[in-house]
Amino acid sequence: MKINSDRLLENLRALRKFTDTPGEGVTRFSYGVQDANAKAFILERAKAAGCTVRLDDVGNIRIGLPGNEPGRPVVLCGSHVDTVRNGGWLDGIYGVCGALEVLECLAEGVKTGPDQPLNYEMVIFAEEEGSNFGSTMTGSKFAAGKYADADLDKLTDDQGRTLREVLAEQMPPEAAGKPVLTVPWDLTNIAAMLELHIEQGPVLERAGRSIGIVDTIFGMRVIEVTLTGAGNHAGATPMKERRDALCAAAECILTAEEIVSADPEERTVVTVGKIDVQPNCSNVIPEAARFSLEVRDSDADEINGNMERILHAVRQIAMDRGIYCGVREVSQSDPIRLDEEIIRQIHIAAEEAGIPYLLMDSGAVHDACMIAEAGIPTGMIFVPSIDGRSHVPEEDTKATDLIAGAQLLLDVIEKLRGNKGE
Ligand code: HGY
Ligand code: MN
Ligand code: MN
Repeated sequence: MKINSDRLLENLRALRKFTDTPGEGVTRFSYGVQDANAKAFILERAKAAGCTVRLDDVGNIRIGLPGNEPGRPVVLCGSHVDTVRNGGWLDGIYGVCGALEVLECLAEGVKTGPDQPLNYEMVIFAEEEGSNFGSTMTGSKFAAGKYADADLDKLTDDQGRTLREVLAEQMPPEAAGKPVLTVPWDLTNIAAMLELHIEQGPVLERAGRSIGIVDTIFGMRVIEVTLTGAGNHAGATPMKERRDALCAAAECILTAEEIVSADPEERTVVTVGKIDVQPNCSNVIPEAARFSLEVRDSDADEINGNMERILHAVRQIAMDRGIYCGVREVSQSDPIRLDEEIIRQIHIAAEEAGIPYLLMDSGAVHDACMIAEAGIPTGMIFVPSIDGRSHVPEEDTKATDLIAGAQLLLDVIEKLRGNKGE
C-alpha cells in the first residue's frame, strides 16, 4: 500500500499556518485557538474518511478507522500538535500527519469482518511540550495514569491558572459534548504504539542516513529555582552591599553548565531555558530570579547524580551571597528502552524499502515514552533534521525524507496489524 505523498505534504503545509506568531516560527500552545484550529482541520479530514472521534478529559484525541471491530486489539499511532514558542513547523505535527495519512490510506481500503487485521487508531496528545504548564508529555501522562486528578490542580501556568481551570475554559470545540474517553485510558487492548517524529538533532544528517530507529529515549528531571535577595537602587547601592538575585542566578547557571560539561564522554545535558526576574527594571537591583533547570540523560543515575551536584552548588552559591533559595520539582520521566520486536519490524521494513537507517537514542522526549513506560510495545521512527535544528523557526526536513518516513510508518503498521504486504 502506498501513501499519498502529495496529500501528506499539503496537510503539513496547511497546518503550518495555525500559529500565533506568523513569520516567526510556529507558536501553538495546547488549549489555545490555533491548537483548536489545527485539530479542527485534522478532524474534518478524519470525519470525511468516516472515522470515529473520541476526546478525553484533558484534550487527548483518539480517532478510529470505520472498520475497527469493538474489542479487537488496537495499533495506536500519533504524536502532538502543540509547539514551543516560535518553534518549528514539523515537531509533533509531522507524526500526527503521518498517522493521519495512514488512517486515510487504510480508510480508503477498509474491510470489515472477523479475519481482518488489528484495529488502527490515531492519537493526538495534548500539552506534550509543556509550554503552558512546564511539564512535558502532560496529556500522555494522564492517559497512561502517571498523572491523576490531583495533578489537574497542581499544574499551573504563568498566570497561576490550574490545568483544571484552563480545561474548563478552553477545551476544543469538540468538547462541547461530554468527553467519551476518561483518563487513565484502558490500555489493555492496545497491542502496540508507534510515533513518527523528526530527529531534532544532527546525528542522521551527519551519518547520511534517512531513517532513525529509536532504541532509547532519554529521561529528564525538571526543577524550578527561586532566588530571593534584596532589591535596591542601581546607582546608590555600593557593590559589596548588594544581594543581587540575578547575579546569583547567573553564577548558578554557569556552575550547572560546568558540572555537566565536566565529563566530555557523558551524553548528559543541562538547560536553563526560562528565567523570570523581578522587578525587571534596568535601574533596580533584581530582588528575585526564578528559572527552570532540566537535566537529561539515557541513564537515570547520571540524571540524578548531576542534579544533586547542581542543587548542592546552587544552595552553596545562594548562602555565600546571602540569598534565599527555594527549589520546586516540576516534572520527571525515566529513560526508556523501546520494544525490541517493534525495533526489529522497523529494521526489516527499512531493509525491504532499501532505506539507509541508523539505530539511535533520542535526547528529546516524546509521548511514546509514557505509553512505553505503561508496558505497551512501543517504537519510534525518526527522519533527519536539516542542520540538526529544532524548536526554532529554521526547523526543516527534506520532503523526500518526510515522505520516506511516512511510507515506512505505513509499512510497519501494516506488519504490526498482521496485514501481510497487501
Ligand atoms: O522537550 C522535549 O524533548 C520535547 O520536545 N517536548
Ligand atoms: Mn515533539
Ligand atoms: Mn518538541
